[in-house]
Amino acid sequence: MAVIKSGEHVHLAQLLQFLDLGEQLAHDCANAQVDLASDYRLKAFLAGQAKQEGRHAMAFQLAIRWLSPRAVTSPLVFPHMNQYRRLIMAAVERGDFAETLLGEQIILEGLGEAILRRMEAGLARRKAPFGRLRRMLLHQEEAHHSFGLRTLERMIAADMISIEGLKKAASPYVELGKSMLFAAQDAFQAIKEDPQNYWDDFQIGLPDWLQAHHRKPNLLRSTLKESRNIQPWSFM
Ligand SMILES: [Fe+2]
Ligand SMILES: [Fe+2]
Repeated sequence: MAVIKSGEHVHLAQLLQFLDLGEQLAHDCANAQVDLASDYRLKAFLAGQAKQEGRHAMAFQLAIRWLSPRAVTSPLVFPHMNQYRRLIMAAVERGDFAETLLGEQIILEGLGEAILRRMEAGLARRKAPFGRLRRMLLHQEEAHHSFGLRTLERMIAADMISIEGLKKAASPYVELGKSMLFAAQDAFQAIKEDPQNYWDDFQIGLPDWLQAHHRKPNLLRSTLKESRNIQPWSFM
């Protein structure tokens, strides 16, 4: 069974470029968050995250070059990602640590994880090489996401931020995330994938307090378990 079917390399490279841009932003954001974090343990985690994101970006760039030696561009994704970057960097400039966690570790990483999980399920089924490396990448992304969630929940418990404030701040990030995902619609459709499924996975993975329709915590947990049993990319 071929790992990638012929004719799909360029479309896959475009989707990986989407992930690469996200990794570059995650790297720059985590680096900036080191200065915003209040204590040593948070700073140490974020410095480690920045190094990992830099390596993830390099891994995706190598995969893109292997899939498509000629340069690929996802012109529709770029403006949305740049706008997303401007939003996060404006929060950095304001010293709003909570908003950077929300925009990067919770929403951007949540979207990346929704894509990576489906990709991983398909690659594992095809017995693609570098399985250990891919599992390590996913494990690290989960750790970044959990770190963001724990830190925000501690800030909520300490009355440093409010859930209502976070929900309001989340809105433009969620909208832009959706625009980015659907801007890559042609590439998804070329490999017979529906971005709506990824958007649904992303929403299920959001923390309880950020869900569009409030769920009870125990229901969210069981839904998250179900989301782990994810369908692989249909082209695989
Ligand atoms: Fe990453
Ligand atoms: Fe990450």
